[in-house]
Formats: sequence, structure tokens, C-alpha cells
Amino acid sequence: MSDTGLFITLEGVDGCGKSTQGELLAHALEATGREVVRLRDPGSTRLSEKIRLMLLDPGNDDMCDECELLLYEAARAQLVREEIEPALKRGAVVVCDRFSDSTYAYQSVARGLSAGMIEAANELGCCGITPDVTLVFDLDPREALTRATHEGTDRLEGEGMRFQREVREGYLQLASADSERVRIVDALGTVEVVHVRVITALHDVIAL
Ligand SMILES: Nc1ncnc2c1ncn2[C@@H]1O[C@H](COP(=O)(O)OP(=O)(O)OP(=O)(O)O)[C@@H](O)[C@H]1O
Ligand SMILES: [Mg+2]
Repeated sequence: MSDTGLFITLEGVDGCGKSTQGELLAHALEATGREVVRLRDPGSTRLSEKIRLMLLDPGNDDMCDECELLLYEAARAQLVREEIEPALKRGAVVVCDRFSDSTYAYQSVARGLSAGMIEAANELGCCGITPDVTLVFDLDPREALTRATHEGTDRLEGEGMRFQREVREGYLQLASADSERVRIVDALGTVEVVHVRVITALHDVIAL
């Protein structure tokens, strides 16, 4: 948990709208006068962005599952120590695309690594930080695919529909296990409609 700030993470399958909604949420929070820090995991620090490139490079198709897991956790630890911890100590609101729940959904439920191993790895990678609230943008992966506009496909997006469905299922499991922290937001609808759902989902944690 944060000291005085608020740590919000955004989760969901590739292309479900995390970054789009993260920007809108950040603007809404800034309008209340709070400091907002926008981050992405993996990424947002010099070292973590380097690791991100390794993780997403389609040429790295020889990467084993354990290597993948440890690279995600390495990038995350650097992000926590360099950005998240200091921001929360300052009292900022941190809005981060993906965090430890992605590791559960992708590496455990979809890839099949044991939940116990993921938990231990996440404990190390998160350096004691837990999101205060997590929004899962729930969307049929087929719908998400039609939204993607960027060129080419990264290594994880190339995994196919069955993999993306498992990821979605993983997120739904997390939400049912901890519905107080992990909140499902229906991501089907216009950007504006989904934004209203985001604000509604956060009504008890932040006055907007
Ligand atoms: N509600 C929406 N309806 C239609 N298109 C949308 C909606 N929200 C976002 N998009 C579009 O879908 C694409 C993916 O959105 P975005 O990049 O926000 O998703 P993401 O979850 O951050 O993806 P990634 O997992 O690749 O980071 C973008 O082109 C965006 O403009
Ligand atoms: Mg994104």
C-alpha cells in the first residue's frame, strides 16, 4: 500500500483500451489539482524500457517462460524503486498500464507457470508495493484485435486467440478473488462511455 499517494493500475487483454482510458483518467485527476504520474509496466525507466524491447521483440521467440517471467519482474522492480515509490511518497496518484496482475494472467493462467511461483516472483518484483485499485478492462479479445491500429504484431500479441482468451479468464479470476481491489470495467462501447464507467468504478477512492 502507498504511504500517502494512490496507486491505480490498468489491466486487460492487448488492445482493450488501457492507454486510452489511462490518459483520460489522468486528465480528470489532474483537473482536481492532484499530481498524476503516468507509467507503463514494463517500461517508464531507462532500464525498464530496454527490458520491454527484449520482451516484445518478435525475434526473441526462443525465450523460455522462466526467462520471460524474470525479465518482467526485473523491469517492474526498477519501475517501483525509481518511479512508483517516490511518487507515492510525494502523495501523487500513480496511473500505471499493467502491473503484477498481468504477470498472473499471462504467465500463470495463459502460460501455465504455477500460481505459487508467480506469487513469489511478484513479491520480489513489486518490492512490497500493491495497487490500491486495479481496473480490468474486460473485452472479447476478438473485439480488441479489431481496435489495434499499430503496425506489426509484438511477441505477446502474436500468441493467438486461445492465449488471449486465457488471459481474459485470468483477469476474471483475479476480480472474483479480490473484488474490493480488482474492479471489472466493461470495455465495450465508445471511449467516452467507457470513461464514465472508469469514473464510476473509482467513486469510493477518489473524488472526481
Ligand atoms: N472504446 C473504444 N472503442 C473503439 N476503439 C478504441 C476504444 N478505446 C481505445 N480504442 C482504440 O483501440 C486501440 C487500442 O487502444 P489502447 O492502445 O488504448 O489499448 P491498450 O489496452 O493500451 O493496448 P496495449 O495492450 O497494446 O497497450 C487504439 O487504436 C485506440 O484508439
Ligand atoms: Mg497500451
